[in-house]
Amino acid sequence: MPKYDRNFTDELRERLSIVDVVGRRVPLVKKGQNYWGCCPFHNEKTPSFSVNEDKGFYHCFGCGEHGDIISFVMKSENVDFKTAITELAAQAGLKMPDYKPKPAAQVAREESYYQIMSGACDIYQKLLFEPMGVTALEYVRRRGFTDEMIQRYRIGYAPKNNIIANKFVNVKQENLMATGMCRRGDYGMYDFFRDKLMFPIFNARGQIVAFSGRCLDGSEPKYINTTDTELFHKRKTIFGFNFARDAIHRANRSIVVEGQIDAIQMQCHGFPETVAPLGTALTEDHISMLCKANRNIIFCFDGDAAGQKAAARACDIVMPFLRDTSDVRFAFVTGGKDPDEVLKSGGTTAMQKIIDASTGLTDFLWNLANTGFNVSTPGGRTQAEKFIKQKTDKITDQHLRAEYEQEYNQRIFNQWHKWKRQSQNIPKIDMPGVDDITKKTVIFIVNQYPEIAERYGDFLATLNINFDDNAPDMNIDEKSAEKYIVSLKLQKYMARLQSQKRDLTARLLAGENVRDEIAVLDEQINTAMQKMDALISI
Ligand code: UTP
Ligand code: MN
Repeated sequence: MPKYDRNFTDELRERLSIVDVVGRRVPLVKKGQNYWGCCPFHNEKTPSFSVNEDKGFYHCFGCGEHGDIISFVMKSENVDFKTAITELAAQAGLKMPDYKPKPAAQVAREESYYQIMSGACDIYQKLLFEPMGVTALEYVRRRGFTDEMIQRYRIGYAPKNNIIANKFVNVKQENLMATGMCRRGDYGMYDFFRDKLMFPIFNARGQIVAFSGRCLDGSEPKYINTTDTELFHKRKTIFGFNFARDAIHRANRSIVVEGQIDAIQMQCHGFPETVAPLGTALTEDHISMLCKANRNIIFCFDGDAAGQKAAARACDIVMPFLRDTSDVRFAFVTGGKDPDEVLKSGGTTAMQKIIDASTGLTDFLWNLANTGFNVSTPGGRTQAEKFIKQKTDKITDQHLRAEYEQEYNQRIFNQWHKWKRQSQNIPKIDMPGVDDITKKTVIFIVNQYPEIAERYGDFLATLNINFDDNAPDMNIDEKSAEKYIVSLKLQKYMARLQSQKRDLTARLLAGENVRDEIAVLDEQINTAMQKMDALISI
């Protein structure tokens, strides 16, 4: 068996949740401290396979199998150690370490990359306070950065000339290019970042792996970032994570904002648990990293259309990471374009209000469905229902998924079918009671055919039926179901006419002259009976 760096397997265990890994193959339900499912290693119908999230172990009380994420993948997929960790590394967004011990040359090369990045950062930091950097310094101060913040985040200035290419003449050109700092052109090496305000991007260990440069002259693009390199993968890097890690632990949550300046300003103004993706939509790798740190996340998006879209995307990719202990919320910036502006104009208090007004995931997804589709039509509701189902289907924890489904089914029933709402307010018309079989049939029809339920909502609302009761499955097609409701309506109508006729007859016998009224009623009863005959004969 090849020797892998122990650090690497540890890092896999640290980055990946065993519930996520096992949950991909085995439906799990949380009971007490552990998750339970049917053991994939022996045949069973009742779950005796337990998974402990904190300890990172699974154990089967039926067959005795136990182990961690690595042995789980090896055994359940019948693959060797290397294949298992390759697969897990991909899930964790980690690059596989080399099969053999790293060649000395590669160790040296990577070391050189980090040195280049850190050296470049030193140069940029110095230049910010030299005459060359005065515009950049004024700019960054105007944006509310104190000297202390500039130091802490190692903000600097990349000049117009090719300072990196010129200063790093003793470094191999290949290495310089491999860091993304320099490129080779017709006239030799030139710098990638020129005349930019420079924000270094740190990995989780605090090493500089990339830069984000903001233009200072109002030209586009506003930011350029190091393109992906051996050290830097944009989709897997979260800005500010190295600074925020402890705070996330303390605050028992993370806040995700859209831009790096927002993240820095948030971190410095009362929200040290804030991070940002890097000029890219959130990816599963980002969420996976955040969830590993803490499963409570507040996504805080700009209040524009792009922010809404980003929120919808975040909602989509966070679903598989939900646990019964997760609290995922969505906040939208108001009173400014982004958190940076809000903090500048209204301070921490204004931002706190926005965070406090955040919407929980359950409501957020419900709102998305209600605004994204025309739920006043059967077609729109069908689309919206499919949309919700497609999201809840992604929840790994079976029990939690069932809870979500139930919650939304209830909302669909209570909120989309307005007759149901009315039925709670409308005074019940006193009519001969509905027998039990009729009740069950009506409940079945209402649940099975919401469109019929809505069409005859006014009538159904007058029945003394509790539509939340259960009804057994019946074999009634939609046409017959509608006929059934119409006939019921006619019966009720006829019963009412008959009772009116009884009253009138009593008055007639008491000497009142109500013959004409009785004649009118007879007419109505006749028409109703003909309708009923017609209905039955179709
Ligand atoms: P925004 O356009 O919201 O910028 O982009 P911002 O953060 O408010 O920037 P300032 O306040 O004007 O300086 C959000 C994030 O998207 C990335 C950056 O990471 C930015 O912080 N971005 C934006 C780019 O990578 N390139 C761009 O051209 C623009
Ligand atoms: Mn901004």
